Amino acid sequence: MERTPGRVLVIVPTYNERENLPLITRRLREALPDVHLLVADDNSPDGTGEIADKLAEQDDHVHVMHRPGKQGLGSAYLAGFRWGLAEGYDVLVEMDADGSHQPEELHKLLDRIARGADLAIGSRWVKGGKVVNWPASREILSRGANIYVRRVLGIPVRDATAGYRAYRAATLGKIGIDHVASQGYCFQVDLTLRTVREDLRIVEVPITFVERQIGASKMSRAIILEAFWRVALWGVQGFPERLRRRRRR
Ligand code: GDD
Ligand code: MN
Repeated sequence: MERTPGRVLVIVPTYNERENLPLITRRLREALPDVHLLVADDNSPDGTGEIADKLAEQDDHVHVMHRPGKQGLGSAYLAGFRWGLAEGYDVLVEMDADGSHQPEELHKLLDRIARGADLAIGSRWVKGGKVVNWPASREILSRGANIYVRRVLGIPVRDATAGYRAYRAATLGKIGIDHVASQGYCFQVDLTLRTVREDLRIVEVPITFVERQIGASKMSRAIILEAFWRVALWGVQGFPERLRRRRRR
């Protein structure tokens, strides 16, 4: 029996991705023709928003959300999730615009959702996962961040900062997305932690992350700092609960 996860919306946040957007759109449409795409653009100065509009005019599976200015990856995804949930999609996918998350691998995430996962994470740091063309500094940052997150939060996820994921719509309903304050890339950790705390089923799927060829990363010191202090805060807040659980055993 063929298992399908239902109607799928891929949300792609963009900030200055004018060259990448048409490429990723074409790859996604070719890889999985039934899947819909929502571009969440933060009024990119390079005109990515207008390019998105042109793509949407030509293709009824492409949708565009224009936001007034750069408000961060987390806030773009939250807006995209709200739109997708209101439109009745069954699965909401996060994917970068720069080609790091290969559309040709999306079927692996969707397959795990169809087989019962509540959240499927495309993971670089599980067996079989790979990163192509990253400088050593970036690999150390990502591995270090994940060790820090596992230590402080005690969650059993190898790649909690990963940005290639598929959420069942019901998962977003259960974890509640109305009070998420994370703006930068720690948004990924935030939602992972919420999913763990709801005892939902998280599956990590090995992927090959390919560093962008065109344009620049938006990673910044502010984004790293936000992740650092928020994770520390969540760790402290969760500590009494973990202690109680341990005592009860
Ligand atoms: N709308 C919007 N607003 N989009 C944004 C913003 C923003 O403020 N900041 C970044 N983006 C978009 C980019 O245009 C791109 O499509 C995607 O988000 C990822 O941004 P990159 O700047 O390419 O991220 P990265 O390659 O450094 O980081 C990747 O790894 C991180 C750490 O593992 C991403 O996969 C992150 O999601 C991940 O947390
Ligand atoms: Mn990138």
